[in-house]
Amino acid sequence: MWHPENPIRYDIPATRWPTREEAAASLLFQPIQIGPLELRQRTWVPAMVPWRATEDGFVTPHNLDWYRRFAEGRPGAIVVEATGVRDIPSGPLLRIGHDRFIPGLRELVETVRRGSDGETKLFIQIIDFLSVKRRPEKEKFFARFLTLDEGHRRALAAATADPQWLTAGEKDLRAFLSHAPDELHEQVLNERELEALRCGYRERVTDTHLAHIRELPEVLPGIFADAARRAREAGFDGVELHYAHAYTMASFLSRLNTRQDSYGGALENRVRLPLEVYAAVRERVGDDYVVGVRFLGDEVIAGGSRIKDAVYFAEQFVRAGFDFLSISKGGKFEDAKQPKSGQAVYPYTGESGYECMPTVLSDERGPFGRNIPLVCEIKRAVNEAGFHTPVVAAGGITTFEQAEAILQRGEADIIGAARQSLADPDWFRKARLGRGEEVRRCTYTNYCEALDQAHKQVTCKLWDRVQLDELNVTLSDDGRRRLLPPEWQGSKVQSLKSKVEGDQNGF
Ligand SMILES: Cc1cc2nc3c(=O)[nH]c(=O)nc-3n(C[C@H](O)[C@H](O)[C@H](O)COP(=O)(O)O)c2cc1C
Ligand code: SF4
Repeated sequence: MWHPENPIRYDIPATRWPTREEAAASLLFQPIQIGPLELRQRTWVPAMVPWRATEDGFVTPHNLDWYRRFAEGRPGAIVVEATGVRDIPSGPLLRIGHDRFIPGLRELVETVRRGSDGETKLFIQIIDFLSVKRRPEKEKFFARFLTLDEGHRRALAAATADPQWLTAGEKDLRAFLSHAPDELHEQVLNERELEALRCGYRERVTDTHLAHIRELPEVLPGIFADAARRAREAGFDGVELHYAHAYTMASFLSRLNTRQDSYGGALENRVRLPLEVYAAVRERVGDDYVVGVRFLGDEVIAGGSRIKDAVYFAEQFVRAGFDFLSISKGGKFEDAKQPKSGQAVYPYTGESGYECMPTVLSDERGPFGRNIPLVCEIKRAVNEAGFHTPVVAAGGITTFEQAEAILQRGEADIIGAARQSLADPDWFRKARLGRGEEVRRCTYTNYCEALDQAHKQVTCKLWDRVQLDELNVTLSDDGRRRLLPPEWQGSKVQSLKSKVEGDQNGF
């Protein structure tokens, strides 16, 4: 796990939780309008992939349990994990690339409605990603994957001062390269080939020599629009277009997008496809449906987009008609660590990954609310342009005091908390009920992220080994961890009390 040099270890901030009355009067628990919808409170669980779908992308009972558990905390909104828009295999990640996925997704929607007593709105994050291969064994790479050409022969002949390589048999050449030292590989292979050898082959939006990459602008609007139509049919309250982190749409927005067609280079070119995708989605789902976007306030990579770019994108997005902007940071392949042989590169292992999910091993700015300056700048620009599109903040938000202060200062409109909600899915509800002392506090050490990286079912270290002998507890595939946190004992009592007292807010 990357961390800043000479890191400072932070404690989880001490806090005073509000009384029930203070919570009721707070901004955090006031409704807010998102396009045609009202959220009952300004609390939000951002997308988190739990690796619980079937190998072919269908919703499982484990997915249903995961979302039901978040719904019981009754946040204003939950965003369902990044869900693939194409009809292609992508391991145990949810998919929405065909109508056959609709029934399972509909069940997920109904589960959240029941779990939250209809309090929580449900959005689904829809994503496209390009091909990323696992890091190959060196022998395999040279025997099977490398496409040999005259350039390699010439480079090898020059590097070894041995002209026999100009005419040597291909088998001999591959065998020689396979046993050659790294320095020789650097002299013979080009940058992309070296990357494919060391980290696994990875496509880029700039690979326009490949027809399927060149044609992305023609195909993606329709694919996203179909996916959004399915989301609506399944009953979701809206879609979040995933334009963040290491994936296709973020790569179009990136300053590293140097495509020579009208979709790369200048800012207005880089935002063109994201806007065309939005327009296609909007046309398909209509004006009375929430369409939001998650994108980066800063890519945090050399040569990547910065806040200035993000402000420009935000203005374009709100003018186009997006209903919310959710701001994330980093999470890129470009600075990711080399994976082990047989594993795929993971975009959260470098500095940009750290910025996406900061830990308590931090620098002088610390991990808590670390993205707020970016969010604030984006919100200011949006508001100054005459729009009031809600802006969602996330990144190390862990107490009511912190969340409320961000809203009171007008730095964001909605508070997202991913890991704190994983640590305790009831935390918003506990705070709202004046029972904040019972919140299980996230320690921000990223055990959950390590599970994500290993493509294992995601759980939290604070609860996955407790009460394993509980009746009907569901365990992970390795049989060692519970998949859901224990129920909050206060939850049932509270629901009953609310009913008896006729609490209109259902708390
Ligand atoms: C296990 C895990 C899975 C995640 N999956 C997604 C995802 O599917 N889409 C996304 O945009 N962000 C994803 N994130 C990032 C979170 O949404 C969030 O931006 C990040 O964790 C920072 O917020 P936090 O400090 O409240 O956790 C994931 C984070 C974690 C820990
Ligand atoms: S595993 Fe660690 S970082 Fe993840 S939610 Fe739990 S306490 Fe927080």
